[in-house]
Amino acid sequence: MVSFLIVYGTDEGQTATVAEYIGTVLTDRGHDVTTRYVTETSDSIVDDVDAVLIGSPVINRKHLRAVVAFVDRNREALAAKPTAFFQLSFASAIPSNWARDGAQEWVDALIERTGWQPDRVGLFAGAVKYTRYGPFTRLFFKLFSAVTTGDTDTSRDYEYTDWDEVEAFATDFAALAEQRVAADTPQTDDRVAMEYKRESPPTEQARESPLTKREQESSPTERKRGRRLAEVGLLAGLLSVVYWLVRRQSVRQS
Ligand SMILES: Cc1cc2nc3c(=O)[nH]c(=O)nc-3n(C[C@H](O)[C@H](O)[C@H](O)COP(=O)(O)O)c2cc1C
Repeated sequence: MVSFLIVYGTDEGQTATVAEYIGTVLTDRGHDVTTRYVTETSDSIVDDVDAVLIGSPVINRKHLRAVVAFVDRNREALAAKPTAFFQLSFASAIPSNWARDGAQEWVDALIERTGWQPDRVGLFAGAVKYTRYGPFTRLFFKLFSAVTTGDTDTSRDYEYTDWDEVEAFATDFAALAEQRVAADTPQTDDRVAMEYKRESPPTEQARESPLTKREQESSPTERKRGRRLAEVGLLAGLLSVVYWLVRRQSVRQS
């Protein structure tokens, strides 16, 4: 049996759902799993487990600050164990090379910034939760979706996460950790970034999520202010992408 720690951050709950699902896969394999929201985790817990997975969504082209800070503080302890990183983004829901490259670049930036080199990386498509967004974020995602996924019905949410991909990622990392723990010798030459094919949904139980812990922790005013700031940042990013796409299209046509 291997002891796993799963640490995650989340804005709208999808990364929490993925963390829980990974936990279910590992538990079903007979392992001991501790799952913690990043700001509720003591750093010392990293020393008490055999292997660690860390997850974050991409929000305004960055991982959550608390997740990056956790990696920074625990870099040495993480280097001594099998580790994996999983990222949720809208970019991974877009079937094109520029989006795939963009999703990978955020992971590369994390590795460069922190010096942490996870043994496995999962790039997962997240969700667009129109029903939870404020008017600005809803509008931005509607605009962006119009030129990417085409999912513009703002009266509903769209989940793009492929649960088979998540399961394959968890199973692959479990096998690596089992091997390492059995051999009790850290290896460094088999680091790979993997992408996984997507297909069917998880069980209802695994889908149940603690969701917006951040929402529970901050006051309504803080939440509103943070959301407004995020929306302004997202507006700038999305408009520039829409502008770029429209320009590229018109250059092609001329
Ligand atoms: C305000 C906001 C900003 C976002 N910025 C990006 C981004 O820059 N790039 C991207 O690929 N996805 C972006 N997304 C999509 C999220 O990564 C995706 O919705 C993910 O599932 C969120 O995970 P969470 O529910 O755990 O917070 C953004 C979402 C929101 C709400």
